[in-house]
Amino acid sequence: MKTFLIANWKLYVSGKASVKLARTYRSRFGGKKYPRVAQVLCPAMPELETLAVVLQSSGIALGAQTVGHPATAAATGDVSAVTLKEIGCRYVIVGHSERRAAGETDADITLKLRAAAKAGLVPILCVGEPASVRKTGRAARFVTTQLTRALNGFRGKTLLIAYEPVWAISKAGKGAVACPPETADTMRLVVERVARKAAAKTRSHVLYGGSVDGKNIGSYLRPGGFAGALIGFASTKPSEYARMVRVLSAQ
Ligand code: PGA
Repeated sequence: MKTFLIANWKLYVSGKASVKLARTYRSRFGGKKYPRVAQVLCPAMPELETLAVVLQSSGIALGAQTVGHPATAAATGDVSAVTLKEIGCRYVIVGHSERRAAGETDADITLKLRAAAKAGLVPILCVGEPASVRKTGRAARFVTTQLTRALNGFRGKTLLIAYEPVWAISKAGKGAVACPPETADTMRLVVERVARKAAAKTRSHVLYGGSVDGKNIGSYLRPGGFAGALIGFASTKPSEYARMVRVLSAQ
């Protein structure tokens, strides 16, 4: 079984810098070098077409950071799942907490997941509780609700689900405590249980995300645990990426 390394570049790299970074990753980590790791680069939307060419036949897949609303005919500025597929994406992140904070609702996420699967993309669904919810001990219930709503009517063959506690995102190098691996693992079991029930016919893989880097990735990726990681900031640093891909490859 492969493990997943999903690089969510957010807006950290753009334009020529993203092409340069993708070329670097292609030559250092592409081809047959890490056959046990499914690597996916998710650059900003305008870079997708260019990176599709850079990554062609590299063994590194392309993913989008979000997908537009499926009400395609009247959704100014959005990019549809069909278009993402056409320009070479294989994966798409849906329901990232930064998109939810910008107004994406559970109902939007349900429709986007269905549209992504219908277009032939593998969705990477993000779930996770904010700090206020964790403090009151309702994290498991909160994530269960997010998942149950998102997966309503989902019929895709394959799904990645990233458990990303909102309070642990973007804390790399800031001295703050990211999520303790034991806490993450408890939530993984919740996510797996709910996914089995809500999308019984779908093959789901559960990933961890939230300030993952070369140093801590090993503590989240124990055998029999998470199937990979969704990584933001550290995935834009070649030295961190190199450490992470090596750790995942040894799983
Ligand atoms: P981070 O981002 O690794 O920078 O915390 C993860 C994410 O938001 O997907």
